[in-house]
Amino acid sequence: MRSGLSRRSFIETVAIVAAGLGLPNFSGPAGVFGKILGPNSVGRRDISKNGFSDREITGKYVIPPDCPKWVNNAVFYQVYPQSFYDSNGDGIGDLPGIIQKLDYIKSLGVDAVWINPFFESPFGDGGYDITDYLKVAPRYGTNDDAEKLFEEAHKRGLRILIDFVASYTSMEHPWFKASTQQNRNKYSNWYVWTDNVWLNPPQQFEGAFIKGYGMRNGQYMQNFYYSEPALNYGFAQPDPDQKWELPVDHPDVSAMKEEIKSILRFWMKMGADGFRADMAGALVKSSINERNKSGSSGQFFTTHEEGTKQFWREIRGILSKDFPEAFMVSEWSNPVSALDGCFHADFFHWFEGYNDLFQKESWRILNGCSKGHSYFDEEGKGDITFFLDKFMEQYLPTKEKGYISLPLGNHDNARLGNKRTDDDLEIIYAFGLTMPGVTFIYYGNEIGMRQMPEDWPQVEGAYLPRNGARTPMQWSKEKNLGFSTAPSDKLYLPVDPSGDAPTVEKEDADRDSLLNRTRKLIALKHSEPALAAYAEFVPLFAKKNAYPFVYARAKDKEVVLVILNPSSKEFEASFELNVPYSNLVLLAGKNISISRIKNRVSMTVPGRTYAVYKLG
Ligand code: NOJ
Ligand code: CA
Repeated sequence: MRSGLSRRSFIETVAIVAAGLGLPNFSGPAGVFGKILGPNSVGRRDISKNGFSDREITGKYVIPPDCPKWVNNAVFYQVYPQSFYDSNGDGIGDLPGIIQKLDYIKSLGVDAVWINPFFESPFGDGGYDITDYLKVAPRYGTNDDAEKLFEEAHKRGLRILIDFVASYTSMEHPWFKASTQQNRNKYSNWYVWTDNVWLNPPQQFEGAFIKGYGMRNGQYMQNFYYSEPALNYGFAQPDPDQKWELPVDHPDVSAMKEEIKSILRFWMKMGADGFRADMAGALVKSSINERNKSGSSGQFFTTHEEGTKQFWREIRGILSKDFPEAFMVSEWSNPVSALDGCFHADFFHWFEGYNDLFQKESWRILNGCSKGHSYFDEEGKGDITFFLDKFMEQYLPTKEKGYISLPLGNHDNARLGNKRTDDDLEIIYAFGLTMPGVTFIYYGNEIGMRQMPEDWPQVEGAYLPRNGARTPMQWSKEKNLGFSTAPSDKLYLPVDPSGDAPTVEKEDADRDSLLNRTRKLIALKHSEPALAAYAEFVPLFAKKNAYPFVYARAKDKEVVLVILNPSSKEFEASFELNVPYSNLVLLAGKNISISRIKNRVSMTVPGRTYAVYKLG
């Protein structure tokens, strides 16, 4: 998540980082299918603003080293704990509630669950603002419940990722309270404080500091909301004129980092299987040079600081040594940095291009940050090439190091089921589950839960559009859609009031429901070698402002072809395919009319149609 940055400066940061990458050229020897089409490397020079076509499939791949094996074709399910299942009738979901629903989660065919923070918190930001890292928030249960959750999940072959918030705490945290004191103490330097309340920090930090809080003469740096002061990981290159900017190896910075590491050890020892790291790229604050270069305000961290990477590498070292099966995924949105020896996977969603997939329209994203047309929309006015350019810039240099995750919804975005039908959603899920990397599915999206309207209550920092995407899971047609026995006005957020609100109960019983179609797609990711996270990804037809989007996934001689036309209109596509086949086996979606003359494949794809074929 971007922090106090304006939208503009966040995008600028990403762009600056991408421009400076110097991506390697991946041209190489012919793969298992030979060079039927002649040389066709997939290096940077092939990243084209006009699209991609006629790529060569080689079947070659490299499995990222030191990544737990189970991750290689894993699908994850994200649970927002306050909204999943309320076991004690107080209107708020809880850990025993998640335990009760583990069999359902298992029935989806997923491998692991990421649970948003469930630690003690005043809940100014849905629980990201933590006051005690080592204690389950009473509203969710106890530490014993967490331990039981890990055990019960393991009994079912499921793994649990916690949410690890390393870059800030709540302002109510005892560490921060101590750091606000006038007298120097152990915690004075654990947060980023200037040394004079009257002097504003340099202009680049505009908006990042809060003045007039506590007894200390200084301003503190916020990380996201004002109530989330930034922990002090130091400055990449402190400004000599700003004495309060500490170096990354300052003893107080090191002491704080050790404490954060011990928190992670605590949960790992209890039985967690890894974690999702919140705002993982925001730890070390940017160097004076970076800030001067950017020339704009708000550039208080960049996405590629060595000191930030170093911290995560140390954490990775702890996992590799003591918890080798554990998995770490970052909210960094810069795979080139995040996979540089740090994480096994990175969520790639806070970048220009993700919105182009599902939420380009201002009415769809509802946060004023985007306008235009989503590619995955029946009106058919989207452009897949902009997304693909950005994706390839990150994917090509990182595919042998770790995985990219393009999440199928999350708690910070509007629901994918925002004015979309189940058929539309199935096409999106087919995309998400057949792209390279690991797939995360946000709770409720498997049944097509909808975005609630703009006037929905904005609780606990859930401003538009988050509030409409965090509503209670819809289990049955019982009271509160089976989420809770509490009076309706006591629920964390009101449930979807519409008469035809989708529910698990209804969809479970219907063979053709979105739930069951999603289950089939999840199963494919496990059964098809060519859909492994690391298998080769080759765009075959992706043209500017055109449909369909066609790509291949390949592992050795196993090849899967994915054809996606989310628009309501029929489109044609024609491209070179260097892999011989005698038949096409439909794995998911609907059969499409496809012809082949020599190496040229042509197809007519009806509107709102997708197909996943295996080449036989
Ligand atoms: C990212 C989390 O996903 C989001 O919900 C939260 O508000 C920010 N981090 C800041 O904590
Ligand atoms: Ca409860």
